[in-house]
Amino acid sequence: MPLRGKKVVLCVTGSIAAYKAVYLLRGLMKAGAEVQVLMTEAAKEFVTPLTFSTLSGKPVLSDFFAKSSGSWNSHVDLGQWAELFVVAPATASTIGKMANGLCDNLVTTTYLSAKCPVIVAPAMDLDMFEHPAMQENLRKLKAFGNSIIEPASGELASGLIGKGRMEEPEVILKAIEQFFSKK
Ligand SMILES: Cc1cc2nc3c(=O)[nH]c(=O)nc-3n(C[C@H](O)[C@H](O)[C@H](O)COP(=O)(O)O)c2cc1C
Repeated sequence: MPLRGKKVVLCVTGSIAAYKAVYLLRGLMKAGAEVQVLMTEAAKEFVTPLTFSTLSGKPVLSDFFAKSSGSWNSHVDLGQWAELFVVAPATASTIGKMANGLCDNLVTTTYLSAKCPVIVAPAMDLDMFEHPAMQENLRKLKAFGNSIIEPASGELASGLIGKGRMEEPEVILKAIEQFFSKK
């Protein structure tokens, strides 16, 4: 069981494919991983944090701090805790921020703080995926040493057909298992 006890940060961003992250989380938990889910604000429009917190057994983190209490979530501690940082689904916007070092939310700030390997599973419409800006951003992430799980081709949520659909959770899980087996 290569995943038993492994510390994984799973970042969910604002794509229609966010529901697939629920299955991915389920697979990670079944395999014995310890998972901390981070969500962007946009992601919460697609799937509720309650789903992820229930399945992971940990509160989902999204905010830098709680206004009411002043308590804050340390991106630095999270970055040091993680043995693997996974972004699935990764939107065009989040990939753009990661590629350019922009840190306006907990996901991208923790990304810059993380010392561990990073796996990114893009999800978007085919034209967004093909855009030179996106391809350039993916090249940058690869140059940083991040692993990209190429999206699959097929029918997209928009009704268009092409490449951009986030890979299936089982495929991503397998890639994560392989990563820990190699280690
Ligand atoms: C119904 C719907 C589906 C969307 N799906 C995607 C998607 O699959 N990929 C993507 O890059 N953006 C998608 N977007 C746009 C993002 O939600 C938007 O760019 C958002 O700002 C991303 O923020 P985040 O990266 O911080 O989560 C979608 C928007 C809507 C309304």
